[in-house]
Amino acid sequence: MPGFIQITDAHIVSPGALAYSRSDTAEALRRAVETINAKLPHWGGIDCAIVTGDLTDHGTPEEYAHFLSIMDELALPWLAIPGNHDQRDPMRKALAGASWLPDAGPLHWVRDFGPFSVIGLDTLLEGAHHGMLCDAGMAFLDTTLSAIGDQPAIVATHHPYIHTGIPAMDADNLRNGAGVIARLEAHPGPVRMVSGHVHRAVAGQLGRVTCQISPATCHAVLTDHRAGLDPHLVLEPGAVTLHRWVEQPGAGLVSDVIPTGIFPGPWPFED
Ligand SMILES: [Fe+2]
Ligand SMILES: [Fe+2]
Repeated sequence: MPGFIQITDAHIVSPGALAYSRSDTAEALRRAVETINAKLPHWGGIDCAIVTGDLTDHGTPEEYAHFLSIMDELALPWLAIPGNHDQRDPMRKALAGASWLPDAGPLHWVRDFGPFSVIGLDTLLEGAHHGMLCDAGMAFLDTTLSAIGDQPAIVATHHPYIHTGIPAMDADNLRNGAGVIARLEAHPGPVRMVSGHVHRAVAGQLGRVTCQISPATCHAVLTDHRAGLDPHLVLEPGAVTLHRWVEQPGAGLVSDVIPTGIFPGPWPFED
């Protein structure tokens, strides 16, 4: 069954450094890569990973080189969209030659998985932490949705539109995401929006659109619903999300959050 692994918010910094003086993001991404490589033989049909932004913490060429050196070990090809911590030109230069990478402008793309398509939308507004989808991105979404007919559509973005109830993160969501939701609502097939940015596993529903946020490979953002506070990081376990099409009644695109690392087990359910 076709599917992909969502990797998000790696926040890679310079070799040997910690992000925010606390978070070993390189080790966290290495752990994610090792976890995926070890589990892939158990997951049928997964033929790529999709990185939903914040590949690096500052968007420098050195950080992209560090990111690539770790991702080189991943036993899957991958596609990516930028997040608010990325910078488009250094990212494009670092990924030059990737078949899915547009030659210029925002990094929008589409990938057909057979039973569904994933539409990657670049929501980076350079210099800001919140997201905005440019006019060209809205037009790309219109054209792509029209081209895929009634095929299920998965939109992948860094910034979610759905509000999580964490005020510090909701302030920096995809501010014009209502336009994305409206377009997905009008699509004749099943629709979903998968995002990152919040560093937590959060899901909700906006009309017909399932909105899902994947946890980061590295640190989490603290769930704190009080207004007026800055976001805080917390060193919860990292994770990736396995999205896989299950072709049977009562199924469809099924998503499984996979904590990264090595854990005791598995054992059979026997005394
Ligand atoms: Fe992030
Ligand atoms: Fe972000």
